[in-house]
Amino acid sequence: MTAAVVETAMAKVNLALHVTGRREDGYHLLDSLVAFAATGDRVSLRAGPMSLQIDGPFARGLEADSGNLCWRAAELAGASVAISLEKNLPVASGIGGGSADAAAVLRGLERMGHSRPEGIDRLGADIPVCMLSQPARMQGIGEIVTPLSGLPRVSAVLVNPGHEISTPAVFRALTSRDNAPLGAIPSWSDLAALIGWLRQTRNDLEPAARDILPLISQVLAALEQNGAGLARMSGSGATCFGLFESDAQARKAAAALSRHGWWAEATELVPSQRGR
Ligand code: C5P
Repeated sequence: MTAAVVETAMAKVNLALHVTGRREDGYHLLDSLVAFAATGDRVSLRAGPMSLQIDGPFARGLEADSGNLCWRAAELAGASVAISLEKNLPVASGIGGGSADAAAVLRGLERMGHSRPEGIDRLGADIPVCMLSQPARMQGIGEIVTPLSGLPRVSAVLVNPGHEISTPAVFRALTSRDNAPLGAIPSWSDLAALIGWLRQTRNDLEPAARDILPLISQVLAALEQNGAGLARMSGSGATCFGLFESDAQARKAAAALSRHGWWAEATELVPSQRGR
């Protein structure tokens, strides 16, 4: 059994997110094209008594106790492990956060010899897709995850204006949706083809989140002004992403956006693995 492992909890990016219905328990049915950015929180696991330590640029205000999703994930797996979480990404921001961290704990525990427990989707709707951490279609309330073969490598910028936004509040504010699923998902040869397809899709949560936090509209406009071929909000926000033609353009845009006092990071969307 491996005594210590490190996993990256990559940022989840909802390139498209359609709300297609609502279950009787109030959860919303989704159809989402999900990619992962090559940046994230860092989760280190070490065999030992159960503990959690949180540091990093976004650790402030987080309780390192048994209520944290990382701790709950380890408990669900029946593991006792010392967890060290480096929070590099803004919290409550639509890019996976706690779900990505919990999935990283579960992946790490598998490498240490533990088996994957049942019911991981009950810890958080994004956990199944974060377990995969590869381009995927996510359906149901998040429990149906299908890997996708056709996503090219894409230069991207993630931007967060520094305000947390509550996921349940955004879902509650959802006033209209047209229930249409994404339809067949093709392969894209390049960024232009991907953007052409994405323009026919939306993030249904974006209008509701913009009502709650109008700053999101400014972030999206600033991404476009700085050369993004497509700018959209991820998940329930407030993090937005822009897609760019090159890494150099993405880096230049991230530098300009951070001058607003926003967190902005140039990164890449991880492409589909060949042969999948
Ligand atoms: O599962 P997670 O903790 O990410 O969800 C937070 C809240 O977001 C849920 O309690 C629910 O109000 C809302 N939600 C939803 N439909 C989903 C996912 C989340 O209504 N598919």
